[in-house]
Amino acid sequence: MKKKIILDCDPGIDDSLAIALCCSSNEIELRGVTVTHGNVPLNQTLDNALALLSFLGRDVEVYAGAIRPLVRSPIDASNVHGNNGLGGVRLPPHNRKPNAKGAVEFIINEVMANPGEIGLFGIGPLTNIALALRMEPRLADAVAEIVIMGGAIGEGNTTPAAEFNLYADPHAARIVFESGRLTTMFGLDVTHKALATAERLAPLKHMGNKVADLVLRFLESYRGFYADVYGWESPAIHDMCTIAWAIDPSLFQTRKMRVEVDTNEGLNLGRTVGDSLLRNADAALVDVALDVDADDLFALFAERVARY
Ligand code: RIB
Ligand code: CA
Repeated sequence: MKKKIILDCDPGIDDSLAIALCCSSNEIELRGVTVTHGNVPLNQTLDNALALLSFLGRDVEVYAGAIRPLVRSPIDASNVHGNNGLGGVRLPPHNRKPNAKGAVEFIINEVMANPGEIGLFGIGPLTNIALALRMEPRLADAVAEIVIMGGAIGEGNTTPAAEFNLYADPHAARIVFESGRLTTMFGLDVTHKALATAERLAPLKHMGNKVADLVLRFLESYRGFYADVYGWESPAIHDMCTIAWAIDPSLFQTRKMRVEVDTNEGLNLGRTVGDSLLRNADAALVDVALDVDADDLFALFAERVARY
Protein backbone atom coordinates (compact mmCIF):
# COMPACT_ATOMS: atom_id res chain seq x y z
CA MET A 1 0.00 0.00 0.00
CA LYS A 2 1.29 3.49 -0.81
CA LYS A 3 2.71 5.54 2.04
CA LYS A 4 0.77 8.82 2.18
CA ILE A 5 3.09 11.56 3.38
CA ILE A 6 3.44 15.29 3.88
CA LEU A 7 7.06 16.34 3.35
CA ASP A 8 8.14 19.27 5.53
CA CYS A 9 11.40 20.66 4.20
CA ASP A 10 13.88 23.52 3.81
CA PRO A 11 15.29 23.13 0.26
CA GLY A 12 18.28 22.83 0.46
CA ILE A 13 20.33 20.62 -1.80
CA ASP A 14 19.73 17.35 0.01
CA ASP A 15 16.05 18.25 0.49
CA SER A 16 15.87 18.58 -3.30
CA LEU A 17 17.24 15.08 -3.81
CA ALA A 18 14.65 13.79 -1.32
CA ILE A 19 11.88 15.56 -3.25
CA ALA A 20 13.15 14.16 -6.57
CA LEU A 21 13.21 10.62 -5.12
CA CYS A 22 9.76 11.07 -3.61
CA CYS A 23 8.24 12.32 -6.89
CA SER A 24 9.53 9.36 -8.93
CA SER A 25 8.48 6.58 -6.55
CA ASN A 26 5.09 4.91 -6.76
CA GLU A 27 5.46 3.62 -3.21
CA ILE A 28 4.80 7.13 -1.94
CA GLU A 29 1.77 9.40 -2.33
CA LEU A 30 3.04 12.91 -1.68
CA ARG A 31 0.00 14.76 -0.33
CA GLY A 32 1.77 18.10 -0.07
CA VAL A 33 5.06 19.87 0.53
CA THR A 34 5.25 22.21 3.49
CA VAL A 35 8.21 24.56 3.70
CA THR A 36 10.05 26.02 6.65
CA HIS A 37 12.88 28.41 7.42
CA GLY A 38 16.17 26.52 7.65
CA ASN A 39 19.04 26.14 5.25
CA VAL A 40 18.16 29.58 3.89
CA PRO A 41 15.31 31.97 4.83
CA LEU A 42 11.71 30.94 4.13
CA ASN A 43 11.22 33.13 1.08
CA GLN A 44 14.07 31.27 -0.58
CA THR A 45 13.23 27.74 0.62
CA LEU A 46 9.66 28.36 -0.57
CA ASP A 47 10.72 29.49 -4.04
CA ASN A 48 13.17 26.59 -4.25
CA ALA A 49 10.38 24.10 -3.53
CA LEU A 50 8.08 25.69 -6.12
CA ALA A 51 10.83 25.93 -8.74
CA LEU A 52 12.00 22.36 -8.18
CA LEU A 53 8.51 20.82 -8.42
CA SER A 54 7.91 22.86 -11.59
CA PHE A 55 11.22 21.55 -13.00
CA LEU A 56 10.26 17.98 -12.05
CA GLY A 57 6.86 18.45 -13.69
CA ARG A 58 4.94 17.50 -10.57
CA ASP A 59 1.70 19.24 -9.55
CA VAL A 60 2.20 18.94 -5.82
CA GLU A 61 0.78 21.73 -3.69
CA VAL A 62 3.32 23.75 -1.70
CA TYR A 63 2.46 25.46 1.60
CA ALA A 64 4.47 28.21 3.28
CA GLY A 65 5.29 27.61 6.94
CA ALA A 66 7.23 29.20 9.74
CA ILE A 67 9.48 32.12 8.98
CA ARG A 68 11.59 31.56 12.13
CA PRO A 69 12.07 29.18 15.08
CA LEU A 70 9.64 29.11 18.03
CA VAL A 71 11.95 30.85 20.48
CA ARG A 72 15.51 31.29 19.22
CA SER A 73 16.73 33.66 16.50
CA PRO A 74 16.94 32.20 13.01
CA ILE A 75 20.15 30.61 11.81
CA ASP A 76 20.89 29.27 8.33
CA ALA A 77 23.19 26.85 6.54
CA SER A 78 24.04 29.04 3.56
CA ASN A 79 27.68 28.09 4.17
CA VAL A 80 26.65 24.58 3.09
CA HIS A 81 23.86 25.15 0.56
CA GLY A 82 24.86 28.54 -0.85
CA ASN A 83 22.97 31.81 -0.49
CA ASN A 84 20.15 30.62 -2.75
CA GLY A 85 19.94 27.26 -0.97
CA LEU A 86 20.70 25.31 -4.15
CA GLY A 87 24.45 25.68 -4.38
CA GLY A 88 24.07 28.68 -6.67
CA VAL A 89 22.25 26.57 -9.26
CA ARG A 90 19.52 28.60 -10.96
CA LEU A 91 16.36 26.64 -11.77
CA PRO A 92 14.26 27.78 -14.77
CA PRO A 93 11.66 30.49 -14.09
CA HIS A 94 8.25 29.16 -13.02
CA ASN A 95 4.74 30.46 -12.43
CA ARG A 96 3.95 28.26 -9.44
CA LYS A 97 2.41 29.89 -6.36
CA PRO A 98 2.13 28.50 -2.86
CA ASN A 99 -1.32 27.41 -1.72
CA ALA A 100 -3.28 30.16 0.04
CA LYS A 101 -3.44 27.92 3.10
CA GLY A 102 -0.44 27.93 5.42
CA ALA A 103 1.63 24.87 6.18
CA VAL A 104 0.34 24.36 9.71
CA GLU A 105 -3.31 24.63 8.63
CA PHE A 106 -2.69 22.16 5.81
CA ILE A 107 -0.91 19.65 8.06
CA ILE A 108 -3.76 19.78 10.60
CA ASN A 109 -6.57 19.59 8.01
CA GLU A 110 -4.97 16.79 5.97
CA VAL A 111 -4.06 14.61 8.94
CA MET A 112 -7.35 15.12 10.80
CA ALA A 113 -9.35 14.36 7.63
CA ASN A 114 -7.44 11.09 7.18
CA PRO A 115 -6.85 9.73 10.70
CA GLY A 116 -4.16 7.07 10.87
CA GLU A 117 -3.20 7.43 7.19
CA ILE A 118 -0.82 10.39 6.82
CA GLY A 119 2.85 10.36 7.82
CA LEU A 120 4.74 13.58 8.54
CA PHE A 121 8.30 13.53 7.20
CA GLY A 122 10.38 16.40 8.62
CA ILE A 123 13.69 17.08 6.87
CA GLY A 124 14.30 20.62 8.08
CA PRO A 125 13.83 22.43 11.38
CA LEU A 126 10.65 21.05 12.99
CA THR A 127 8.87 24.36 13.62
CA ASN A 128 5.86 23.64 11.36
CA ILE A 129 5.25 20.19 12.79
CA ALA A 130 5.62 21.47 16.35
CA LEU A 131 3.14 24.29 15.71
CA ALA A 132 0.65 21.84 14.22
CA LEU A 133 0.99 19.59 17.27
CA ARG A 134 0.37 22.57 19.57
CA MET A 135 -2.56 23.98 17.55
CA GLU A 136 -4.36 20.62 17.28
CA PRO A 137 -3.85 18.42 20.39
CA ARG A 138 -5.55 15.49 18.61
CA LEU A 139 -2.95 15.55 15.84
CA ALA A 140 -0.54 13.25 17.68
CA ASP A 141 -3.15 10.50 17.81
CA ALA A 142 -4.31 11.03 14.22
CA VAL A 143 -0.92 11.05 12.48
CA ALA A 144 0.29 7.69 11.14
CA GLU A 145 3.96 8.36 12.00
CA ILE A 146 6.48 11.16 12.25
CA VAL A 147 9.83 10.49 10.56
CA ILE A 148 12.69 12.99 10.64
CA MET A 149 16.12 13.65 9.32
CA GLY A 150 17.67 15.30 12.33
CA GLY A 151 19.70 14.85 15.47
CA ALA A 152 22.80 12.84 16.20
CA ILE A 153 23.44 10.31 18.94
CA GLY A 154 27.12 11.02 18.32
CA GLU A 155 28.80 14.24 17.21
CA GLY A 156 26.79 17.16 15.81
CA ASN A 157 27.50 19.13 12.65
CA THR A 158 26.42 22.62 13.67
CA THR A 159 27.93 22.35 17.15
CA PRO A 160 29.87 19.40 18.55
CA ALA A 161 26.63 18.40 20.29
CA ALA A 162 23.87 19.25 17.81
CA GLU A 163 22.77 18.62 14.24
CA PHE A 164 21.49 21.60 12.20
CA ASN A 165 17.74 20.85 12.02
CA LEU A 166 17.46 20.37 15.76
CA TYR A 167 19.89 23.13 16.68
CA ALA A 168 17.96 25.56 14.46
CA ASP A 169 14.80 25.01 16.55
CA PRO A 170 15.46 22.81 19.61
CA HIS A 171 12.15 23.76 21.24
CA ALA A 172 10.21 22.58 18.21
CA ALA A 173 12.23 19.38 18.17
CA ARG A 174 11.45 18.75 21.82
CA ILE A 175 7.71 19.15 21.13
CA VAL A 176 7.94 16.64 18.28
CA PHE A 177 9.92 14.10 20.30
CA GLU A 178 7.61 14.51 23.31
CA SER A 179 4.52 13.99 21.11
CA GLY A 180 5.27 10.29 21.34
CA ARG A 181 4.64 9.91 17.59
CA LEU A 182 8.18 10.31 16.31
CA THR A 183 8.78 6.77 15.13
CA THR A 184 12.01 6.92 13.16
CA MET A 185 14.99 9.23 13.35
CA PHE A 186 17.65 9.55 10.63
CA GLY A 187 20.44 11.42 12.41
CA LEU A 188 24.00 12.09 11.40
CA ASP A 189 24.96 8.66 12.75
CA VAL A 190 23.49 7.15 9.57
CA THR A 191 23.38 10.07 7.15
CA HIS A 192 27.14 10.56 7.40
CA LYS A 193 27.37 7.07 5.90
CA ALA A 194 25.15 8.07 2.93
CA LEU A 195 28.04 9.56 0.99
CA ALA A 196 27.57 10.42 -2.68
CA THR A 197 30.84 8.94 -3.94
CA ALA A 198 31.89 9.21 -7.59
CA GLU A 199 31.21 5.50 -8.00
CA ARG A 200 27.67 5.78 -6.58
CA LEU A 201 26.95 8.81 -8.79
CA ALA A 202 28.38 7.22 -11.95
CA PRO A 203 24.97 6.02 -13.26
CA LEU A 204 23.74 9.62 -13.20
CA LYS A 205 26.63 10.82 -15.31
CA HIS A 206 25.52 8.84 -18.35
CA MET A 207 21.77 9.08 -17.84
CA GLY A 208 21.20 12.01 -20.16
CA ASN A 209 18.13 13.27 -18.35
CA LYS A 210 17.71 16.76 -17.00
CA VAL A 211 17.06 15.66 -13.41
CA ALA A 212 20.24 13.58 -13.29
CA ASP A 213 22.17 16.55 -14.67
CA LEU A 214 20.59 18.87 -12.09
CA VAL A 215 21.49 16.54 -9.21
CA LEU A 216 25.12 16.46 -10.34
CA ARG A 217 25.16 20.27 -10.53
CA PHE A 218 23.68 20.53 -7.02
CA LEU A 219 26.33 18.18 -5.66
CA GLU A 220 29.24 20.00 -7.25
CA SER A 221 29.09 22.89 -4.80
CA TYR A 222 27.75 20.75 -1.91
CA ARG A 223 30.87 18.59 -2.23
CA GLY A 224 33.06 21.59 -1.46
CA PHE A 225 31.69 22.01 2.07
CA TYR A 226 32.46 18.39 2.99
CA ALA A 227 35.92 18.58 1.49
CA ASP A 228 36.76 21.82 3.29
CA VAL A 229 35.21 21.03 6.67
CA TYR A 230 35.38 17.25 6.95
CA GLY A 231 38.18 16.47 4.52
CA TRP A 232 35.83 14.00 2.79
CA GLU A 233 35.86 13.36 -0.96
CA SER A 234 32.09 12.93 -1.01
CA PRO A 235 29.13 14.82 0.48
CA ALA A 236 26.56 13.33 2.87
CA ILE A 237 23.05 13.12 1.44
CA HIS A 238 21.06 13.46 4.65
CA ASP A 239 17.41 14.04 3.77
CA MET A 240 17.12 11.44 1.04
CA CYS A 241 17.57 8.71 3.68
CA THR A 242 14.04 9.31 5.01
CA ILE A 243 12.41 8.81 1.61
CA ALA A 244 14.61 5.83 0.70
CA TRP A 245 13.55 4.22 4.00
CA ALA A 246 9.89 4.84 3.17
CA ILE A 247 10.46 3.01 -0.13
CA ASP A 248 12.69 0.22 1.21
CA PRO A 249 13.22 0.01 4.99
CA SER A 250 15.60 -2.95 4.49
CA LEU A 251 18.28 -0.49 3.35
CA PHE A 252 18.70 0.62 6.96
CA GLN A 253 19.52 -0.81 10.37
CA THR A 254 17.81 0.85 13.32
CA ARG A 255 17.97 0.46 17.07
CA LYS A 256 15.23 1.34 19.56
CA MET A 257 16.39 4.10 21.88
CA ARG A 258 14.83 6.49 24.36
CA VAL A 259 15.70 9.91 22.94
CA GLU A 260 15.43 13.34 24.57
CA VAL A 261 16.28 16.77 23.17
CA ASP A 262 18.30 19.20 25.29
CA THR A 263 16.76 22.70 25.16
CA ASN A 264 19.02 24.25 27.78
CA GLU A 265 21.16 27.12 26.51
CA GLY A 266 24.79 26.10 26.47
CA LEU A 267 27.13 23.42 25.21
CA ASN A 268 24.48 20.76 24.60
CA LEU A 269 21.65 22.90 23.19
CA GLY A 270 19.79 20.90 20.54
CA ARG A 271 21.54 17.66 21.40
CA THR A 272 19.62 14.39 21.05
CA VAL A 273 20.52 12.23 24.03
CA GLY A 274 19.96 8.57 23.10
CA ASP A 275 19.67 5.68 25.57
CA SER A 276 19.70 2.16 24.15
CA LEU A 277 19.07 0.81 27.67
CA LEU A 278 15.65 2.56 27.57
CA ARG A 279 16.01 3.80 31.16
CA ASN A 280 13.59 6.77 30.99
CA ALA A 281 10.10 5.45 30.22
CA ASP A 282 8.87 9.03 29.75
CA ALA A 283 11.27 9.74 26.90
CA ALA A 284 10.39 9.17 23.24
CA LEU A 285 10.87 5.57 22.12
CA VAL A 286 12.41 5.98 18.67
CA ASP A 287 13.83 3.70 15.99
CA VAL A 288 17.20 5.40 15.49
CA ALA A 289 18.83 4.60 12.15
CA LEU A 290 22.48 3.73 12.67
CA ASP A 291 23.56 2.04 9.45
CA VAL A 292 22.69 1.97 5.76
CA ASP A 293 23.63 -0.04 2.69
CA ALA A 294 24.82 3.08 0.87
CA ASP A 295 25.55 1.32 -2.42
CA ASP A 296 21.98 0.05 -2.58
CA LEU A 297 20.66 3.45 -1.40
CA PHE A 298 22.27 5.24 -4.34
CA ALA A 299 21.37 2.44 -6.74
CA LEU A 300 17.72 3.00 -5.76
CA PHE A 301 18.13 6.76 -6.18
CA ALA A 302 19.68 6.37 -9.65
CA GLU A 303 17.00 3.93 -10.74
CA ARG A 304 14.28 6.40 -9.70
CA VAL A 305 16.00 9.42 -11.28
CA ALA A 306 16.16 7.45 -14.52
CA ARG A 307 12.35 7.42 -14.50
CA TYR A 308 12.18 11.19 -15.22
O1 RIB B 1 22.10 18.53 9.23
C1 RIB B 1 21.59 18.21 7.97
C2 RIB B 1 20.22 18.76 7.79
O2 RIB B 1 20.25 20.19 7.88
C3 RIB B 1 19.62 18.48 6.40
O3 RIB B 1 18.24 18.41 6.50
C4 RIB B 1 20.02 19.69 5.61
O4 RIB B 1 19.13 19.94 4.52
C5 RIB B 1 19.86 20.77 6.64
O5 RIB B 1 18.48 21.12 6.69
CA1 CA C 1 16.83 19.79 5.04
